[in-house]
Amino acid sequence: MHLLIMGLPGAGKGTQAAKIVDTYGVSHISTGDMFRAAMKNETEMGKLAKSFIDKGELVPDEVTNGIVKERLAESDIKENGFLLDGYPRTLEQAHALDKTLAELGLTLDGVINIDVNPDSLVERLSGRIIHKETGETFHKVFNPPAGEYNEDDYYQREDDKPETVKRRLDVNIAQGQPILDHYREQNLVTDIEGNQEIDQVFKDVKEAIDRIK
Ligand code: AP5
Ligand code: MG
Repeated sequence: MHLLIMGLPGAGKGTQAAKIVDTYGVSHISTGDMFRAAMKNETEMGKLAKSFIDKGELVPDEVTNGIVKERLAESDIKENGFLLDGYPRTLEQAHALDKTLAELGLTLDGVINIDVNPDSLVERLSGRIIHKETGETFHKVFNPPAGEYNEDDYYQREDDKPETVKRRLDVNIAQGQPILDHYREQNLVTDIEGNQEIDQVFKDVKEAIDRIK
């Protein structure tokens, strides 16, 4: 299966992607995760990405298109399929993806669009905590870790500061619509109501994927 998951920052792409990967075994490709790994390793690309991510801006298309193209050419993709999370994020990236998939002999099966009210997103992002050891994402209120937990075992993302979140939302709201239109024209989009409990969202996502399969 070859899928995209789309939605504004904090819509729940990563949360749902983890469940999709567990259930369907597809390879998860998150450009945000790839950039954060490069930032952690302080590679040249990581340093460049950081200068955009810290301001809530998008990393330039040529850099992002390059890393996705390389990743899609890896051997696990043919075997497992893929779930792209956070890419494409500009119309130019959508066109680059069309070209890359055609070159690799792959076709897109569907686009899951998690639709959320932007007003709820600042609260979601400011309460997000990530487990240092496993990378698993939680929320202090909406999805706390089980039992008593030690706050020191978790971190918050640098770009989840309120000023950066506002810029991320503005950038993504402006860029998102033309991409969705591009895929709607191809009849690939399923809209999912994202302002529901995480498990209910996943129930709807699963129904959508089972129709796509
Ligand atoms: P990226 O990492 O992709 O961030 P994003 O799109 O801003 O989205 P998030 O990861 O913040 O949110 P999410 O939708 O995954 O939500 P989550 O499941 O964690 O990108 C980061 C940056 O990298 C970008 O700003 C850009 O600079 C750069 N970048 C990445 N891709 C790029 C590209 N293609 N081109 C250029 N630049 C790129 O959930 C959020 C919180 O809400 C969690 O705490 C979760 O527990 C909670 N939650 C989830 N679902 C629910 C629910 N249903 N109800 C209540 N709480 C919920
Ligand atoms: Mg994410």
